[in-house]
Amino acid sequence: MNYKNTKEDYGRIARWFHWGTALLFLFAYMAVYYRHWFTDKQTPENLVALHLHLSFGVTVGVVVILRIIWRNMNIQPTLEPGPTWQHWLVHVVHYGLYAVMIVMPLSGYIGTGVSTNFFYLFEIPKFADTWLFDVLVWDMMGLTFEEFEKPVDFFHKEIMGAWLVWLLIAGHAAAALYHHFRLRDRTLLKMIHH
Ligand code: HEM
Ligand code: HEM
Repeated sequence: MNYKNTKEDYGRIARWFHWGTALLFLFAYMAVYYRHWFTDKQTPENLVALHLHLSFGVTVGVVVILRIIWRNMNIQPTLEPGPTWQHWLVHVVHYGLYAVMIVMPLSGYIGTGVSTNFFYLFEIPKFADTWLFDVLVWDMMGLTFEEFEKPVDFFHKEIMGAWLVWLLIAGHAAAALYHHFRLRDRTLLKMIHH
């Protein structure tokens, strides 16, 4: 199988990026919901679940940079025939998903008041400890971390995490399954080994 995309199929690398990222999202969600639903505050499990959420999330943020570079070095497989509005919607959703892969790690990172213990391998300093925070937030906006954190958290958790991200991913996955099982075209096959 090709490493690069062809007009017919996504290549090996694009598939790894795609399904690897889907797994990272799944694990990031599992960690944060496990923390909410099954642990008590300040217990060791609670902290481990938090740092796993942060670690998976930061990984998404690193992977998406490589993924965008790779995408720009490739052609995109041709979409299955369909009405113009559908092709337009496909592009909106795919760009929306890229936006999510960038905005979620970013808003998560800048709105978190603890340093990330990256899979317990090394520590990533929290945003409030960086010079960027001093320059942008403290000097230019005149805000303390607590003031700055509130709206950023609200965006990360309530607007995006709990709603928009779910909606986009669920709509995207449902469309893929609909194409595969109902329309029986090659949409899903382009992204899996066959
Ligand atoms: C793919 C990336 C990410 C996704 C999809 C994501 C999603 C979420 C979701 C769904 C929640 C819980 C919302 C709720 O309470 O209903 C959450 C909470 C949180 N996220 Fe993220 N996140 C991501 C990346 C990050 C990153 C990179 C960081 C920090 C480095 C981070 C820090 C946090 C923190 C501190 C919370 C609050 C924890 C809690 O309430 O238990 N997130 N995130
Ligand atoms: C079970 C979950 C998923 C399924 C079944 C699925 C399926 C697919 C399929 C079949 C395509 C190819 C569409 C085409 O070119 O006609 C695709 C593309 C794409 N998917 Fe997913 N997907 C899933 C989860 C995700 C997640 C979680 C993300 C990101 C957060 C994502 C982001 C993308 C992007 C950006 C593309 C465009 C191609 C690219 O640039 O890599 N997908 N997906």
